[in-house]
Amino acid sequence: MNYFYKSLDNYEILDILKDMPYYNEWFNIVKGILESKEFQKRRLFFHHENECLWTHCIRVSYKSYLYAIKHKINAKNCAIAGLLHDFYTKAWHPSEGLEQLEDKYREKLEHPRKLKLKEMHGFNHPVQALENAKEYFPEYMNERIENAIITHMFPMSLVNETKWPKYRESFAVWYIDKYISWTNLSSNPKNLSKYFGIKKKNK
Ligand SMILES: [Fe+2]
Ligand SMILES: [Fe+2]
Repeated sequence: MNYFYKSLDNYEILDILKDMPYYNEWFNIVKGILESKEFQKRRLFFHHENECLWTHCIRVSYKSYLYAIKHKINAKNCAIAGLLHDFYTKAWHPSEGLEQLEDKYREKLEHPRKLKLKEMHGFNHPVQALENAKEYFPEYMNERIENAIITHMFPMSLVNETKWPKYRESFAVWYIDKYISWTNLSSNPKNLSKYFGIKKKNK
């Protein structure tokens, strides 16, 4: 695959996954998103600790896909929702790579202000991700994928307009995102606040 940006990680997640079960089936579903320049900008976003957002979203997507096959849930919906669940625009951790992008991606970092609860990253990023997904990848969207994206931080989604996970895909992506995020952050219980988008990663 042609990459537009150098990843912040020291490895390529797709190279790691490529020999895993159902990889080709999964890849064919999400290929158009992965190849887009807009989605590849997430290679320059830090997400949890030192893992970039590109890697996190791919992990959640692929693992949600496997989980869905095992539990007879719609696997295509899970692959797409998993990939786009954190497709937010405004980076909330600094990284040098972000300087390659337009100002809007650094807005939160360069112009910090006191935020209301529903504007804080942990509450707001699923809303941003859904708006963005509908803008850039409308052909991939459906009601079930949209619900999975916007409720992936449930119960924090109770402050959003769409409050409740309604479909099995939503619960699958919710569960896999929690599992993967917690695996990354569990070395220190203090990291929980980072997961909920209340505290930033260590500089
Ligand atoms: Fe998220
Ligand atoms: Fe996530």
